[in-house]
Amino acid sequence: MQKIIITGGAGFIGSHVVRRFVKTYPNYNIINLDKLTYAGNLENLRDIENEPNYRFIKGDIVDLEFINSLFDNEKPDAVIHLAAESHVDRSISSPLEFVMTNVVGTVNLLNAARESWKGRYDQTRFYHVSTDEVYGTLGEDGMFTEETAYDPHSPYSASKASSDHFVRAYQDTYGMDVVISNCSNNYGSFHFPEKLIPLAINNIKQRKPVPVYGKGENIRDWLWVEDHARAIDVIFHNAKAGQTYNIGGHNEWKNIDLINLLCTILDKKLGREAGESAKLITYVTDRAGHDLRYAIDASKLKTELGWVPSITFEEGLEKTVDWYLANEEWLANVTSGNYQQYYKGQYNNR
Ligand code: NAD
Ligand code: TYD
Repeated sequence: MQKIIITGGAGFIGSHVVRRFVKTYPNYNIINLDKLTYAGNLENLRDIENEPNYRFIKGDIVDLEFINSLFDNEKPDAVIHLAAESHVDRSISSPLEFVMTNVVGTVNLLNAARESWKGRYDQTRFYHVSTDEVYGTLGEDGMFTEETAYDPHSPYSASKASSDHFVRAYQDTYGMDVVISNCSNNYGSFHFPEKLIPLAINNIKQRKPVPVYGKGENIRDWLWVEDHARAIDVIFHNAKAGQTYNIGGHNEWKNIDLINLLCTILDKKLGREAGESAKLITYVTDRAGHDLRYAIDASKLKTELGWVPSITFEEGLEKTVDWYLANEEWLANVTSGNYQQYYKGQYNNR
């Protein structure tokens, strides 16, 4: 595999995947294809942007003509597809944008790949990065396996479920080599502060209210983003065509317990009295259709490909909090919108 298009590489997880591939595989040409929506931030990739095996291309996966000409010009050998609208709350207010990017955008990429790769499906690969949210919600017991029936509840998870089905249909109908992974909630550096963990860190730091939806009893299974990027690397290189893998950290937390833990960590790190940050916790109206619990059974990935998480949640959370405290400029640029200027300064003449 020589040339790989990674879509959504300027986002949270995509930037970690791009960095890992650029650094680990100097003989690969990595193209980061990203529209740079509000969630795309090229500052996430400053450390590798001048590497000889890396290129950024600004573009919209919904734009069929652009995608077709990209495949014609670049003739990639593989796609690792992360570009998506990814925030459940935004999907509740703007579902159509999720259909366009997550469903239509994915089908555009599949079509372009189908044309471009004719006659060499066995030497190419379409890797679709998906979410555990396609499986719906769990009660108190049980875990999602690769066999769990799809049962999405939010416009976000419905759009991801739809794109998963299209990806499988392209394997079954046209014989393309596709792989899908469904991962649980990620956390770590470069996470846009609209999602729970970076939002809570940012608000606690700034002594702003920390909004807890409903009673805070919903449960998520958290995985360190660099472990997700490593899982994608392992699956991309080793999975058989048509396979699906669940990725997760065996690490379930009730939202309220997680927020309290962050308050305790930040009290210590910011020199506050014990219990001071927890006073910022504010219960707010619950999210519509809020899934109660996600938990991933990642034993297939462990047994077949030997992947297990590399660090504990305590270690990962400490690293993450330290990263946000050390990267005030990144956080300030993201919260003020200034990060969008970076593209103009850095890439306007390319
Ligand atoms: P993100 O919102 O941080 O980044 C998404 C990226 O996609 C951004 O850089 C954005 O500019 C780009 N993008 C959006 N629309 C585009 C379009 N039309 N054309 C080209 N680029 C576009 O998302 P993330 O959290 O990094 O998630 C990446 C992928 O992983 C998504 O497919 C998501 O469904 C999946 N996923 C996320 C999580 C999680 O916890 N964040 C967990 C499991 C799976
Ligand atoms: P989020 O980070 O949006 O991820 P997802 O909805 O994809 O799991 O939310 C994680 C959990 O935290 C989810 O149960 C909703 C809840 N939540 C809050 O309680 N307050 C918040 O401000 C946010 C953003 C999320």
